[in-house]
Amino acid sequence: MTAQLIKGAEIAAQIREELKQEIAELKEKHNLIPGLATVLVGEDPASQVYVGQKEKTSLALGIYSERHDLPADTSEADLLALVDKLNKDQKIHGILVQLPLPKHINETNVLCAIDPNKDVDGFHPVNVGKLMIGEPDFLPCTPHGIQQLLMRSGIETSGAEVVIVGRSNIVGKPIANILLQKKEGANATVTVCHTGTRDISFHTRRADIIIVAAGKPKAITADMVKEGVVVIDVGVNRIGKTAEGKAILVGDVDFDAVKEKAKAITPVPGGVGPMTITMLMLNTLKAAKLAAGLV
Ligand SMILES: NC(=O)c1ccc[n+]([C@@H]2O[C@H](COP(=O)([O-])OP(=O)(O)OC[C@H]3O[C@@H](n4cnc5c(N)ncnc54)[C@H](OP(=O)(O)O)[C@@H]3O)[C@@H](O)[C@H]2O)c1
Repeated sequence: MTAQLIKGAEIAAQIREELKQEIAELKEKHNLIPGLATVLVGEDPASQVYVGQKEKTSLALGIYSERHDLPADTSEADLLALVDKLNKDQKIHGILVQLPLPKHINETNVLCAIDPNKDVDGFHPVNVGKLMIGEPDFLPCTPHGIQQLLMRSGIETSGAEVVIVGRSNIVGKPIANILLQKKEGANATVTVCHTGTRDISFHTRRADIIIVAAGKPKAITADMVKEGVVVIDVGVNRIGKTAEGKAILVGDVDFDAVKEKAKAITPVPGGVGPMTITMLMLNTLKAAKLAAGLV
């Protein structure tokens, strides 16, 4: 069997088109323009690329975008003051502080300072709790993108054995919580593996759907999966550069071997990646509608 490719780039483009229309309607009917503020502390090259992409996508969809670039030695107090200002700014409906932050800044303090109603990353404890009890306002972007990929590719999750490899707060734990809910596009039996798991293959070999967010190339190899599995590869690993100096990216899955056994699989790049920013745009639109009492 050679797997069907789950083309995140195409699915993301389709959702962006839907969002663009809804944003235009919001402006026409309610004179409301969703606003997103991104905050970048320091000059990490990958973070600069991500923030640039967020800004560009906002503009393409008709979202007002504001970018705050702060030097790497910005104090926590100064960053918190900016967050406070953005919390009070009525043009701004969503605030995204790009992670990771420099070591001298406490990430939790900053994430907790964002108004939960503007927390379009879905990382504030209030939003984490709402997700847990099945009443989310904002789903975290990457896990929400994964759920959309599954739903829009016609992959049944209800009753499925889903094995997640990785338990981070931004991917592993929230996707486990999303797929656990008694809802459409969820209702799965969920197992979460990590470096403390005794025998990862024992779990992955019986999985109908495997979601890998480990940050390790070839963390999942062909002998670890059953025929007909669906594989969502969240990993983004830079393993070198091309002759032209472009980064070579691979996921966490041994793609060439696993695709021969899988029913469907996401490529890297072009799988989960494009969905993350798209879901950020969706959350920004939702934040604007919530603020205006339109939800
Ligand atoms: N495409 C996107 O939009 C997107 C978004 C976010 C992240 N990512 C990518 O996804 C990957 C994971 O990101 P993250 O932030 O979740 O990473 P993270 O915070 O480093 O967490 C990695 C998790 O994987 C577990 N793990 C690592 N190696 C493992 C192995 N060999 N077997 C089993 N478990 C293993 C770790 O276990 P312990 O907890 O025991 O240490 C940890 O829970 C990275 O490559 C990142 O770049 C992509």
